[in-house]
Amino acid sequence: GKTRQYDFTISRGVASPDGYQKQVMLVNGQFPGPMIEANWGDWIQVTIHNAITGPEEGTAMHWHGFLQKDAPWMDGVPSVSQCPIAPGESYTYRFRADRFGFSWYHSHYSAQYAGGLMGPMIIHGPSHARYDVDLGPVFITDWYHQEYFDIIKGIMGTDNKHWDLFSQNNLINGKGIYDCSQVTDGTPCHSDAKNAQFSFKSGQTHLLRLINAGAEGFEYFSIDGHTMTVITNDFVPIRPYNTTVVTLGIGQRADVLVKGTGKPGESYWMRANNSLICGQTTKGEALAEVRYENADLSKPPASQAQPFVDPGTCADDPLETTIPYFPVRGIRKPDFVQVYNINKTINETGQQEWQVNDSAFRGNYNNPLMLLTAQGNTSYPYNPEWNVYNFGKNKTVRMILNNITPWETRLSHPMHMHGHDFFVVAEGRGQWDGKTIVRPENPMRRDTVMLPRGGYVVIDVVMDNPGVWPFHCHIAWHVSEGLYINFIDQPHKFKPRQIREVMAGTCNAWNKWSKNNV
Ligand code: C2O
Repeated sequence: GKTRQYDFTISRGVASPDGYQKQVMLVNGQFPGPMIEANWGDWIQVTIHNAITGPEEGTAMHWHGFLQKDAPWMDGVPSVSQCPIAPGESYTYRFRADRFGFSWYHSHYSAQYAGGLMGPMIIHGPSHARYDVDLGPVFITDWYHQEYFDIIKGIMGTDNKHWDLFSQNNLINGKGIYDCSQVTDGTPCHSDAKNAQFSFKSGQTHLLRLINAGAEGFEYFSIDGHTMTVITNDFVPIRPYNTTVVTLGIGQRADVLVKGTGKPGESYWMRANNSLICGQTTKGEALAEVRYENADLSKPPASQAQPFVDPGTCADDPLETTIPYFPVRGIRKPDFVQVYNINKTINETGQQEWQVNDSAFRGNYNNPLMLLTAQGNTSYPYNPEWNVYNFGKNKTVRMILNNITPWETRLSHPMHMHGHDFFVVAEGRGQWDGKTIVRPENPMRRDTVMLPRGGYVVIDVVMDNPGVWPFHCHIAWHVSEGLYINFIDQPHKFKPRQIREVMAGTCNAWNKWSKNNV
């Protein structure tokens, strides 16, 4: 395959995506960052220059949903697959476009991505559905007017600030309009902010690539007056089904086809709503404008939202309706079964923590797990707070996730696994009965699944990608609060020499910088 080369300079800058002026994290001066585009099978090569100042910070870029087979050290996760890229340093990622469809890249350092460090990736591949126009990404992000590191300080504090964590807005493709009259502290707020625009053609079929790239909220996406046909979830083509509302947990994607049923001259609102029930979010509604040919651009659309009642389950669309287009048989009998109980607690120092099996994850930037493994540290689980699960030579593992926080606390978790797609074989409220498997001959597959409020999800994973892989909640704040485990896949197949060589690239500079700065 061909190599697609990109050069990304990461910096802090001032921007006003919704009118409210604030410090953001930028890729080549943009938010969201520039699009990466490749064909299936190509190589993608991205050089990251860390030019973050005021204050300086490390960084690292993760390529969400790619498998990184034979190159787990390109996964971009500090504490696991590399040391952070130190301030002033550069690092080049090179990996295969081993999946096709729509995804994103985002920083995996602290909650930098919630400050804007992210961008879209489109990998062109065979298509199982026909359309006339590809309108590209629809990036949905809840948006905070506070600095991400101040939010982290707040939620890691001992004063229960985290209970008041509401986003100020919700954006589509980095745009939205904030009501500047609500600003009382003198922060500049520009009233010329605009919504994103999408041009529809009457009678044509449009492809929209939806993603929830937010920090906390569960999103409901819709277009007034239109029905959508969902054709892909994450990187998995599915049998097309129709709906007026698409649900998206953070990190999840859905390609949808929208028939241009409107007439020339018409305009409609496109909407993304944070579920009030499924997370600690504002009722922030993101709006964008759908304009048919010859629409009067001087007038906002006058369309009405379609009737919708939030079911409050905070779950993915039912497994019965999301069916992979290309069938893959599920695992008949897993070699190993691992239960993960997820719960919230307040620790001895008064901090809120999210625990998996009674342990909240704390990473160590100077000691990436994959490097420790390559150095011959094979007695697991290393440090208990690194939440390492070594699955050894097991070829298949069933993971049963139980959301044991009470139903009333209203929290669901978008669980994302690195380096693998997994089979989603059961999900529901309460506890799994231990036997029901949805469609064993062709279970749903994804890289991010909603662990519903007060419920469970059961996933089957094929251990075919030697490495150390995170499996975590994609709510930015929950990562900091510890809802994160790492698992070791086929350690006997690691390549220690290669790992040590590659890791030296980031670790030498980081160890030096952090000695003087952290
Ligand atoms: Cu999209 Cu671990 O991340």
